[in-house]
Amino acid sequence: MPHLIDCEIVMHQEIAPEHFRLVLRGPEIAREAKAGQFCMLEVQAGLYPFLRRPMCFERIFPDSFAIVYRVQGEGTRLIAKMRVGQTVNVQGPLGKPFPLRREFEHHVIVAGGIGVAPFPALAEALIRECGAVPEVIVAARTADQLVCEQDFRQMGCKVHLATDDGSAGYRGFASDLLRELGLQENSVVYCCGPMAMMKATHLVCEAAGALCLASLEAEMACGDGVCLGCVVEANVEVEAERMVRVCTDGPVFDTRLIQWESY
Ligand SMILES: Cc1cc2nc3c(=O)[nH]c(=O)nc-3n(C[C@H](O)[C@H](O)[C@H](O)COP(=O)(O)OP(=O)(O)OC[C@H]3O[C@@H](n4cnc5c(N)ncnc54)[C@H](O)[C@@H]3O)c2cc1C
Ligand code: FES
Repeated sequence: MPHLIDCEIVMHQEIAPEHFRLVLRGPEIAREAKAGQFCMLEVQAGLYPFLRRPMCFERIFPDSFAIVYRVQGEGTRLIAKMRVGQTVNVQGPLGKPFPLRREFEHHVIVAGGIGVAPFPALAEALIRECGAVPEVIVAARTADQLVCEQDFRQMGCKVHLATDDGSAGYRGFASDLLRELGLQENSVVYCCGPMAMMKATHLVCEAAGALCLASLEAEMACGDGVCLGCVVEANVEVEAERMVRVCTDGPVFDTRLIQWESY
């Protein structure tokens, strides 16, 4: 069962324009959280904004956890105003984590924009639990939107940068850069970012025979499988439906399970 607890803000820093890292003390959640899972933050006590906002665990510590977020709309604008010492009500951990696939030799992380959020925790888990140091592609529109690069470098990961405008690293899409890394059947790719980028990543992996695991985004209301607000179309039947719920069946999916045509 996920916990529902008040967590104290122990750190809150702007790490890039409109991008923040928030560290929350919440031992019950931190002790159970795994890379790829997420939590739901209450933006403000009371009725507005009504819905909690889903956020991945960027780092998991013994008694606390970090979230990296981009200001998107009203909810994240309010979160950005929160101060150290304040408390936030948090529900979590929710969803299924990234499976740690020890049998693969080549682990590659592909992060698009704020889709980088779950990956410092995943890289740490792969290194600690599988002895596998992943290669990481960090992609964004422009150089100033690239976040977490140094975190991966400090862990010893080989980092490749890609920007749409060429202001840092490779000029172009993360999926084109991924193709150049020479994926094989012993490669597993973990990706998160805009749906179009994850579709392109899925296609590159499919062509190379590599396994692709994606953390999907969807608008969420309940976060625990009830409202069906977060469904995406699937290629296979799950409980007599060709739909999966991102909150409870995911957010991490083998990309072969997802119907990518409409993206
Ligand atoms: C499992 C999961 C993990 C996520 N992890 C992160 C993270 O670590 N860092 C981060 O910056 N963002 C993350 N997001 C996206 C983040 O939840 C949205 O950007 C945020 O909810 C937007 O809220 P807002 O009020 O600022 O924006 P608004 O656009 O004003 O939000 C309005 C409503 O739409 C929903 N909504 C809008 N955009 C999204 C979206 N892209 N995904 C889900 N709900 C949305 C909001 O919950 C809210 O109910 C995650 C989303 C999911 C589903
Ligand atoms: S958010 Fe309600 S079912 Fe997924």
